[in-house]
Amino acid sequence: MTQDDLKKAVAVAAVEYILPLLEEDTIVGVGTGSTANMFIDELAKHKQLFDGTVASSEASAERLKGHGIPVYDLNAVNSIRVYVDGADESNNHLHLIKGGGAALTREKIVAACSEEFVCIADESKLVKVLGDFPLPVEVIPMARSYVARELVKLGGDPVYREGVVTDNGNSILDVYNLEILDPVALETSIDGIVGVVTNGLFAKRAADILLLGTKDGIKTLKK
Ligand code: 5RP
Repeated sequence: MTQDDLKKAVAVAAVEYILPLLEEDTIVGVGTGSTANMFIDELAKHKQLFDGTVASSEASAERLKGHGIPVYDLNAVNSIRVYVDGADESNNHLHLIKGGGAALTREKIVAACSEEFVCIADESKLVKVLGDFPLPVEVIPMARSYVARELVKLGGDPVYREGVVTDNGNSILDVYNLEILDPVALETSIDGIVGVVTNGLFAKRAADILLLGTKDGIKTLKK
């Protein structure tokens, strides 16, 4: 099985998982990335069962609209029943690294507003200790060098993601060589640097459930 086969399998499993939650007024939060794209394509088969979605990126919003699925501004909805999104890494506590697709800020906002966060990933994303994947940090452009110097003080090696502008008009620093033994503490420390918009650690608001595509089938991990 290829990695894409595993991503497709978890996308199908995620739709099966959320089907009982869908009612005519249900809003579904939708993430960003290749696994989320497969979820969107599966979700489209059931679009008559729910009201609409809130998307974590312009790219996902376009894909949803292409399927004829309504996409609402977050400020126009009262609640999001469930949020489904991929991840770049997860540990066993369902603390995540996200932001490989530069959508981390909107992803974190949608996750914060959602009753339940279902993470979907292939088995390569499950790790013992977070940090092999460079941690994305969204920064206000004028603060980029200052934030980079502060990240070095925290033990990381930040690299500017050249040519990338987020949906919010900001820049991304990818922080290499962090061994993240206390994800909640590091998430809080990085958030405290002036000029940081968001960092890609989802530990304070971790996933509630991780559906993992493995060669032996779908594995379910819960907090
Ligand atoms: C985007 C993300 C994605 O969820 C993450 O990069 C995983 O992507 P993929 O499903 O393509 O492996 O955080 O900002």
